[in-house]
Amino acid sequence: MKFSTSAILTLISSSSTTIVKALHSRSALQSVAAFSSSTIGRITNPTSSSSNNEGNGSFEEGDEVVEEEPWSPWNDPRLDERSEGKQGFRSRQHVNPLASKFQQPTVLSPNWPSDVFTDLNRPLFLDIGCARGGFLVDIASQRPAEYNYLGLEIRPIVAKQAQTRIAKHGLSGFLDFVGCNANVDLERLLTIMMGTGDDEVEDTKRMIQMVTIQFPDPHFKARHAKRRVVTPELVLCLAKFMPTSGTIFLQSDIQSVLDDMRFQFRQQPDLFHDDVENLDEYLPENIFGIPTEREVSVLDKGLPVYRTTFKRTSVPVSAVHQEPQEE
Ligand SMILES: C[S@@+](CC[C@H](N)C(=O)[O-])C[C@H]1O[C@@H](n2cnc3c(N)ncnc32)[C@H](O)[C@@H]1O
Repeated sequence: MKFSTSAILTLISSSSTTIVKALHSRSALQSVAAFSSSTIGRITNPTSSSSNNEGNGSFEEGDEVVEEEPWSPWNDPRLDERSEGKQGFRSRQHVNPLASKFQQPTVLSPNWPSDVFTDLNRPLFLDIGCARGGFLVDIASQRPAEYNYLGLEIRPIVAKQAQTRIAKHGLSGFLDFVGCNANVDLERLLTIMMGTGDDEVEDTKRMIQMVTIQFPDPHFKARHAKRRVVTPELVLCLAKFMPTSGTIFLQSDIQSVLDDMRFQFRQQPDLFHDDVENLDEYLPENIFGIPTEREVSVLDKGLPVYRTTFKRTSVPVSAVHQEPQEE
């Protein structure tokens, strides 16, 4: 019996959330990653007389997996030449993160993250919506021994361009860029890196010491609010993997976007503390002294930037939030 790749991808994308929720061990999650990536292939039964892709949908003894290149929007083989600007391709200014193709898990290498980070005991510096990664390239160059740096970017061509910068800048071993939808994949990636992220993980083993979410526009219109990166789920996810005093740095040139992100973190006052008490006040400076690409262009135009920082408290997530029970 043969199963087409698209049929399996459909199966995975419809069941991946359930699978990921159900499997909370690192090895199990890596199996999901491996299943959704490296080992996806055409499943054939050499003894079957049927040669079409239709069947009863069940795997039978004798079925074998014929390796095929896995596919996701972020590992499409055509990205290599597209990211180099060949064939007249240019990256889109923005994509709709709610589109179905961006709901699937990204494809990770089977040994991720140990194949990219030399010392997994380092604290993690996470940049969500990193675009071409200029900020992380700069900070990793200036502070190479301090963190492992991880950037997440949803636009496939842009994520690819960021990846090509790692070796060029001599930052292999402590910097990685993953093309993915942070709202879909963050918890899975962090669980693979650090374990379950529940309260059994000791505070000191929650490794995300620093999180930056910088100019996560363009979804600033009120009617596109659902597309924004900072959601209640993202806030809870970060809380699970951050130690006491871990820092979140938020900035935007659009006041309402910054205020909305700030609102989402302030909705969890037991878990995160806003370092700027008054809602009508903002931090005057970028706390790292290293501007992002977007920040440079905003400041060059003489426009204001709105910023704040939050600190993770010592309260465990389970003290304030009950995971919904599976039916
Ligand atoms: C305006 S750019 C800013 C890039 C960079 N942080 C800077 O300040 O120069 C926002 C980036 O966030 C990315 N982004 C938006 N939603 C995302 C999501 N759900 N997951 C990952 N990246 C996302 C966009 O594709 C875009 O590259």
